Amino acid sequence: MKKISIKDIWNNKIKINSLITIKGWIKSKRNSKLGFSFLSVYDGSHINNIQIIAKKKISNYNDILNLTTGCSVEIKGKLILSIGKKQKYEINANTIKIIGWVYKKESYPISLKKHSNSFLRSVAHLRPRTNLISVISRIRHFLSYEIHSYLNDNGYYLINTPLITTLNTEGSGDLFYINTKKDNKNNFFQKKAFLTVSGQLHLETYACALSKVYTFGPTFRAENSNTRKHLSEFWMLELEKSFSNLKNINIISEKLIKHLFKKVIEKCDSDINFLSNNINCNIVKKLKKDINSEFIKINYSEAIEILYKKNKLFNRKIFWGSEIYKEHEIYLTNNYFNCPIIINNYPKKIKAFYMRLNDDNKTVAAMDILFPNVGEIIGGSQREERLNILDLKLKEMNFKKKDYWWYRDLRKYGTVPHSGFGLGFERLISYITGIKNIKDLIPFPRTPKSAYF
Ligand code: 4AD
Repeated sequence: MKKISIKDIWNNKIKINSLITIKGWIKSKRNSKLGFSFLSVYDGSHINNIQIIAKKKISNYNDILNLTTGCSVEIKGKLILSIGKKQKYEINANTIKIIGWVYKKESYPISLKKHSNSFLRSVAHLRPRTNLISVISRIRHFLSYEIHSYLNDNGYYLINTPLITTLNTEGSGDLFYINTKKDNKNNFFQKKAFLTVSGQLHLETYACALSKVYTFGPTFRAENSNTRKHLSEFWMLELEKSFSNLKNINIISEKLIKHLFKKVIEKCDSDINFLSNNINCNIVKKLKKDINSEFIKINYSEAIEILYKKNKLFNRKIFWGSEIYKEHEIYLTNNYFNCPIIINNYPKKIKAFYMRLNDDNKTVAAMDILFPNVGEIIGGSQREERLNILDLKLKEMNFKKKDYWWYRDLRKYGTVPHSGFGLGFERLISYITGIKNIKDLIPFPRTPKSAYF
């Protein structure tokens, strides 16, 4: 008897009347007075459960009557067409082996009733058993797979940049130090080390040799931000391309996003369907609209002009030179344009040292891509490839030239224009799924004061 995944049944890969084995967990059970039980079983491979008919003649029928949500089972039986209207297939069980009971004296946290997402976070070890988290897990897996596949098909090489670093990419103070001793000499690495905030600087070294590269992994920020869009550990896709400028990464990132939207609609249809029925009925419509229209592209100065006129709406007042905060992002994407937008050419004072200075001497060739409801999902720039200007920027920001010696070497030895971006993976999933809190989009969220599990 062939062991199969439940998804094979729903994808019509199993012939009717085949004898099959499935292994999984009980979602629900209904005992009929007519001498049989209906078990609804899932194995995580598909959002749909499979209904099992267990007749009284099965030798351990009395045990079957005691099965509860969460018990694990192995079922051997025949796949048949269901006479019920709710599902196409069911399994007529010959044997049901009970693999693991749910302890009767403890109440099972993932009971059948609807649980809030915040409660589910408190049982993060059990929450993948819910429909919602299993849907998210499969979509997350698929997007991750599709990112690798798309970039491979387009000639990008995956570079595994280090997680332990000693050079601060973003120049911010939000670092998780991993030092064992106060003085540098006695430290494991004999200098201050921390978890990476971005693999970009290391990635640039490989872009300046392999031309088209990317990295995709966890990134760490010790920002004390308790919002629905911030994690202390999040996943970032970073892409870096030599011989390219700001306009090129506008195009590359838009194409990549649209490709992912297209594929997720195509390949994750049953999971997207679940989200449409339970989270937001407009998911597919929204993604299709984005696929079929060009993202709006404006300069920072134009964005400020639009926002300045609406300053009375905002808690943080806007002026040329100010940051564009979440409330402004949402006004631009939700109210003004009602679509994703790419903002280009930010003031140099509010952006990182490595961004290429524009001819106006005031702005840098940076871009952020903002999405309705979520805000910024992508941040990127053309990198400063001219050593003399890079050195001026380092000086202006009080960074030591010697700390950046290897990064500066790239500008000394065959420098090239190059550009790249970072995409916040959980924020992308938030936009696609319509789930607002990114703590629900990573298996074990880490946030200030919270690293349980
Ligand atoms: O804009 P950021 O800080 O860009 C960089 O780190 C560049 N070095 C990337 C590059 O050019 N290679 O971060 C990139 C993206 C943001 O747009 C956002 O989507 C996400 O990472 N992000 C976060 N996501 C979740 N939690 C946080 N605390 C995040 N901080 C940034």
